[in-house]
Amino acid sequence: MTVLGSAVDVTSPEYAAHRAAMLDKLAELDGEHAKALAGGGEKYVARHRARGKLLARERIELLLDADTPFLELSPLAAWGSDYPVGASIVTGIGVVEGVECLITANDPTVRGGASNPWTLKKALRANEIAYANRLPVISLVESGGADLPSQKEIFIPGGALFRDLTRLSAAGVPTIAVVFGNSTAGGAYVPGMSDHTIMIKDRSKVFLGGPPLVKMATGEESDDESLGGAEMHARTSGLADHFALDEPDALRQARRVVARLNRRKAHARPAPAESPKYAADELLGILPRDLKTPFDPREVIARIVDGSDFDEFKPLYGASLVTGWASLHGYPVGILANAQGVLFSAESQKAAQFIQLANQRDVPLLFLHNTTGYMVGKEYEQGGIIKHGAMMINAVSNSRVPHISVLMGASYGAGHYGMCGRAYDPRFLFAWPGAKSAVMGPQQLAGVLSIVARASAAAKGQPYDDEADAGLRAMVEAQIESESLPMFLSGRLYDDGIIDPRDTRTVLGLCLSAIHTAPVEGARGGFGVFRM
Ligand code: COA
Repeated sequence: MTVLGSAVDVTSPEYAAHRAAMLDKLAELDGEHAKALAGGGEKYVARHRARGKLLARERIELLLDADTPFLELSPLAAWGSDYPVGASIVTGIGVVEGVECLITANDPTVRGGASNPWTLKKALRANEIAYANRLPVISLVESGGADLPSQKEIFIPGGALFRDLTRLSAAGVPTIAVVFGNSTAGGAYVPGMSDHTIMIKDRSKVFLGGPPLVKMATGEESDDESLGGAEMHARTSGLADHFALDEPDALRQARRVVARLNRRKAHARPAPAESPKYAADELLGILPRDLKTPFDPREVIARIVDGSDFDEFKPLYGASLVTGWASLHGYPVGILANAQGVLFSAESQKAAQFIQLANQRDVPLLFLHNTTGYMVGKEYEQGGIIKHGAMMINAVSNSRVPHISVLMGASYGAGHYGMCGRAYDPRFLFAWPGAKSAVMGPQQLAGVLSIVARASAAAKGQPYDDEADAGLRAMVEAQIESESLPMFLSGRLYDDGIIDPRDTRTVLGLCLSAIHTAPVEGARGGFGVFRM
């Protein structure tokens, strides 16, 4: 009875058009992901290999259990900035000796693996994910430290990296550093602050200051090995716990360290779950090309939850927000999904009640975004849309169960907040390639600016130049449109990655599994004052 039906007609021209548009976006996305994979480009990759070294992703692959997935996070970090796509670091979640770990790996082919402002943001986000989900952290280090020309952006906030490592350790979350090359100055505190360190013969260089700096500071003559080589740290300083002969040996030893961590997940893995009744491939044809055209999010839910089985909560009330219970890869989830785009008072109240219920039952929440925001207008203001939206935002803010957000389509205005946008600390937030997020839609924003400018001219008694206005509107619209697109937002670390809609169930399953490493406990009270 609770298995969802589907009205998707895979033979319709609309379906074909939606699917073609989505495939175009995915092809574009592949092109951008390829830039991250290319790292510092052919020249630096060839030089790195000629030195007998593995690339960052190859190191990760050797570290992971064979044939297990790696959920890479923020691969497009730094997109649209002055720095290379990927931000010279790879981060993600993978399984090592059966233990889900948060893995970071500097990409030494990009400016010596030096950390620029986006590298820092990406690394801090990885630490946040590790902390919230209690995932052991494995740092595969090879970095020239701070990207010196941008030091003003990273030196002061960058201290948080080392603070995080020791806070993770204090919280009982293991930290492991494997040093493949340079780890100097501040970078030396990555092994310095980690619970376990592994260094590699003739490769690791861990010192506060290299030979030239020491010469400048004290006049002392020294060399890399005596200052910070693996052998010295393993035999003399004691900074290295494990001495590896080469890169594969270091990764093997890292796996042994994880094997002995005595890690247990807070929640046992559920039994294999029933697949959805409908093909994931059909997710390509559901999202309209024009986000103003509404679509039924139950069609998405039917293609991501176990057995397409969904117990809808209050289906007749506040129908523009679909809420209900399901399981995903065996994990219980409460789902909030926008239907008609706009959130009214009833939807907001329904959401607040649903979030409270999920907290009482310790059920994680999944937010499927396609909203243009809370309804505006006299009738709605008089009906209390502000206090009802505030109620929903209050519930989201103070909810203690894990949240995951997926931006399927639009995610505009305070609707982005109420649906657990980035600032509301979802454990994970992913976007589909057609998603858009901004304070409001580009046309609306340009229109508002134009009305304000016209009124301002009138107030000053000045004539208004309609031709210039049209030009300004077009320019603003184009700017806001480009700033609303997922690659731009992903570049700024406002999501954890853009995913293929067909991978949604897999990605959510990996996230839910990682989430259940930590205890899932809802808030029993502790919400702010609900303005009724
Ligand atoms: N900031 C900015 N750019 C850096 C950098 C840094 N910290 N470290 C390296 N780069 C750049 C180099 O200028 C070079 O650029 P180019 O190819 O356009 O000339 C590129 O990255 C590769 O560096 P290179 O020295 O050729 O690579 P390498 O693999 O032989 O050596 C390092 C890598 C990290 C050992 C070496 O670059 C180095 O010692 N860097 C400075 C380390 C340091 O003292 N950092 C301060 C820490 S706070």
